[in-house]
Amino acid sequence: MEERNFYSNQRRIRANRHIRELAAPVRLHHHDFIQPLFIDEALTQRQPIASLNEINSDTIASALEQVENDLQKDISKFLLFPVPAHKAENIFDFSFFKKVIETIKEKFGNDVWLAADVCFCAYTSHGHCGILNKQGNKLLNHETVTLLADYSLQLAQSGIDCIAPSDVMDGRIAAIRNKLNENGFDDVSIMSYSAKFQSNFYGPFRDACHSSPAAGQKLKDRKTYQLSFANPNDAISTALRDANEGADIIMIKPSIIYSDIIYRLKQLIQQPVAAYHVSGEYQSIELLAKQGLLTRSNGHIEIWTALKRSGADIIISYAARHVKEWIEKIEY
Ligand code: PBG
Repeated sequence: MEERNFYSNQRRIRANRHIRELAAPVRLHHHDFIQPLFIDEALTQRQPIASLNEINSDTIASALEQVENDLQKDISKFLLFPVPAHKAENIFDFSFFKKVIETIKEKFGNDVWLAADVCFCAYTSHGHCGILNKQGNKLLNHETVTLLADYSLQLAQSGIDCIAPSDVMDGRIAAIRNKLNENGFDDVSIMSYSAKFQSNFYGPFRDACHSSPAAGQKLKDRKTYQLSFANPNDAISTALRDANEGADIIMIKPSIIYSDIIYRLKQLIQQPVAAYHVSGEYQSIELLAKQGLLTRSNGHIEIWTALKRSGADIIISYAARHVKEWIEKIEY
């Protein structure tokens, strides 16, 4: 009898489903999720993306169907990625993306919330996220930011709800905010890819968007603009700077491998924090599931819960459209 006192009593709150539900403070809700969509100008019909399980590259027509299906699953927030058919050095044609936004908004109006990934890596012939200098060894900050602000204004004129700059140039949040405000688009929000790391986990995405830095050039990778994964201080400074420049939502990307940054930022800023579970992170779960090594839905739910636990308010996931269905069935 006395011996029982040697045991702690923590297992009581794990004893059955009911008490586990009552005891757990972390919850997922489909309202917190954003679904990425790829829309490819060169396609005449929807095409599966081989490296991203279950995800397609859409035409404008198939994107409309996709949005309709997603709305039925109570997913109404989208992050749009345009894949333009033509690449150039520094003069880009934004008309395709504008048409995408106008067409979706025309059909669904305010039933949907559209964020635009704003970057030039899918537009440039060299695959970098901005304008290269003549020597080809550096991205020009001012020229890139000026063009990003013009681009953002055009997207705002087309009806976008949120601008999500992913280029990681300096000062682009202030430049975009000013440009939008000067033209009467005070209501268009900005979700900054603030802590965007130079990551090995973007591979499947770059396949989908044809946006890898081209081989054989002086500037081989994105290390001079995306953040070093060994420098958390830079991530915090950059995010605080973006918040000060007027970013409404601060994003951390990739997500699960940077949950330390999510946790720290959540303590420091009042803006909502978004975690982007990127293509390589997503696909690693998909591949484990394909091999029968985990259950797909449970794998994603565990990751999403970890992101929430770390402090993410918003989750961007390629499996967002399954959230409602999966979490209804979850047993904690
Ligand atoms: C564009 C951009 C990238 C991603 C989102 N926007 C790729 C990159 O920076 O090379 C990655 C998203 C993902 O991997 O899911 N700059």
